[in-house]
Amino acid sequence: SSDPVRRGDLDGVRLLVTAGGTREPIDPVRYLGNRSSGRQGVAVAAAAADRGAKVVLLAANVDESVLAGVRDRGAVRVVPIGTAAELEAAAHAAASGAEAVIMAAAVADYRVAEVAEHKIRKEDTAGEAPTLTLVENPDILVGLVRGRRPGQVIVGFAAETVAAESDADDELLERGRRKLARKGVDLLAVNAVGWTEGFESDANRLYVLDADGRVAGEASGSKREVADRLLDAVRDELRALSH
Ligand code: CTP
Ligand code: CA
Repeated sequence: SSDPVRRGDLDGVRLLVTAGGTREPIDPVRYLGNRSSGRQGVAVAAAAADRGAKVVLLAANVDESVLAGVRDRGAVRVVPIGTAAELEAAAHAAASGAEAVIMAAAVADYRVAEVAEHKIRKEDTAGEAPTLTLVENPDILVGLVRGRRPGQVIVGFAAETVAAESDADDELLERGRRKLARKGVDLLAVNAVGWTEGFESDANRLYVLDADGRVAGEASGSKREVADRLLDAVRDELRALSH
């Protein structure tokens, strides 16, 4: 990093970062997906590498144009991911070798119970709109927390929609704290998303909550700036746990 305060402060730290959004197949040509572009997670991977970390980046359906931000960094190993099930297997395999895990990916909460082997055709559904039966995906983050190695720092993300009113930040933090308690993570990055906020843009704004629900950091700016601020909290947490 060109930033003298942060340069090398993650030297040798092995980091697992997930980014993007999983896609759950419906049939060979269709899927259920979400709007996550992977930009925030990729920015975390790039910033961490610049600060000396060795990063495994599990990239769920992230465009090559977004991944260009880490392709030139030897310290980042990119693993392409499709579904939540693939992400779960890859995350468990990679987590055992990581001092910190940053779960920025948007994981589909549900998948289609029975994926059709062939394309669903109007001709075959006799004018009736088909009904998709969904089943819940495992919570990957909760699984990682359960299997964590001693001293490992685990960070979750919470993208929440809130009413666009003056107390929107209170609602955001309140939702974040409830999620924090459910997940058992060390840090939770909480940000507001909506029809016009959070996704395709290069800007982001988030709070970092510590395990007790206190605001450990607040960042707003480019996704890179936000990434650096989040990594400051991860670095501090790693230091606290190693003492
Ligand atoms: N997450 C996960 N596995 C899932 C769902 C979510 O690992 N099946 C992780 C996400 O990567 C993120 C965190 O959990 O780091 C919070 O995701 P979010 O979707 O906000 O939480 P959910 O528990 O799914 O709650 P909600 O009903 O608000 O979607
Ligand atoms: Ca969810």
